[in-house]
Parts: sequence; structure tokens; C-alpha cells
Amino acid sequence: MKETNKLGRLDKLSRKVLIDTSKMLKDAKTELFDGIHGRVLEVGAGIGVNVYFLNRPEVEHWVAVEPDRKLVEECHKMVAEMEDRVTVFQGYLHELEEPPESFDYVVFTTLLCSVPDPHKIVAEAHRMLKPGGKLCIIEHIGDKFGFRSAFQMLFKYPWKFATGCNCRNKPIPALSQPGFWEGIDGEINFKPAPLRVKRFSPLLELTKPFVMTELTKKS
Ligand SMILES: C[S@@+](CC[C@H](N)C(=O)[O-])C[C@H]1O[C@@H](n2cnc3c(N)ncnc32)[C@H](O)[C@@H]1O
Repeated sequence: MKETNKLGRLDKLSRKVLIDTSKMLKDAKTELFDGIHGRVLEVGAGIGVNVYFLNRPEVEHWVAVEPDRKLVEECHKMVAEMEDRVTVFQGYLHELEEPPESFDYVVFTTLLCSVPDPHKIVAEAHRMLKPGGKLCIIEHIGDKFGFRSAFQMLFKYPWKFATGCNCRNKPIPALSQPGFWEGIDGEINFKPAPLRVKRFSPLLELTKPFVMTELTKKS
């Protein structure tokens, strides 16, 4: 595996952003992960913030895939309480030695903003899902109009350099690959993700709005 350290340039900022983002998405994640069970695959698990939602008896095993070595070290600590019900895999999804169609759920939380080839990741995740299995997604997307949109365009490259994240993320084409999902003919639909926001933050303005959905693999 090629060694990566995407979030290593500004470690402390990156860690804080991941934790604050997950706290802000508490209500969205509670709703999205309601009913999650069985074998769960998370792609780009970061430092493992989703442990607060996945450490439940219904989750038989969680495989957390993360390529960044420093984040993997933190992830191990964060998920330790789940003992042998979790595996942290340092590497990319295509390197994971698990049989295809062996997961009940795949989780992406703010992932597609950070991957170079979102179509490929979505196709690989789809391959790992059992027929009828679900892909749970929360993403932030580039805003369409107005001041926030202009602000994102201005800071797109410095932000990308600092964090590895594209604040003008456009995940719909990668997620809308034909024939993948039950009841989807054309583009997938997101709904707005509720946010817990206490005060104005320029960093948050770079990433708003957040959206979410659950997609079911065709049987
Ligand atoms: C914005 S962070 C989100 C982390 C975590 N999902 C969360 O909600 O806190 C994006 C993550 O995607 C990971 N990543 C980047 N490219 C990836 C790839 N090709 N495959 C899997 N993960 C990747 C990064 O290392 C990083 O941990």
C-alpha cells in the first residue's frame, strides 16, 4: 500500500474539525444510523468518530477502512472499547480482503469530498454490499448560489491543501451510477442533514450545506 498522510499537514486542526463536525451532525447520524445492524463497513473512517453511533449490540462487526497512518493510530484508540467487534484496516477499500457482498451496511460520512475518484469508491462499496444491503451517506456539498458559494470558490484550494477536502464537493454523479440502487432511476436525491450549530463559524460556512440519504442495493 502506498503510504498516505492526507490530513497530516495540520494534524490538530484536522482532528478538531473531524470531532466538531461529528458533534454538529449528531442528530443527522442518530437518524441515519437508526436500525443499522449486522456487518458494517465504513470507508474513510478517519479517527473513528462514528464509534458513538456504531457501538451498539445490533452491530455484529464493524470494519473501519482508513488509508492515513496517523488517523489509523487515533482510530485504534477511539474504537478500542468495541474490542473484537471492530477491525481497523489501514489501506484502501480495494485492498481489503473480505468477500464481495458480505456487508449489511456501508457507511460514508463526509468521505466523497476527500477521495480522488468518487465513482470508483462508490462502485467498490456497492460490490461489498449484500443484495438488499444499505449505503448510509452524509456529505457536505458545494453551495449553489450566493455569498457562501463565492466564499467556497475563493478558499477551495487553500482548504484542500490544508485538509484534503473539496469544499465544492459534488457527490451526486458518483452515487447515481445506473442499476445500483432500489427505486432509483436517474439521479439520487439527498435530504438536508440537520445541524447542531451554536455559533457562526467561517470554517463551517466553507462546508455547508450537509445532506444525507440511505440507498438500498438492488436484489
Ligand atoms: C473528511 S475525512 C472524514 C473522516 C470520517 N469519515 C468522519 O466522518 O470523521 C475523509 C476521510 O477519507 C479518507 N480517504 C481519503 N481518500 C480515501 C480513499 N481513497 N479511500 C478511503 N478513504 C479515503 C481520509 O483519509 C479521511 O480520513
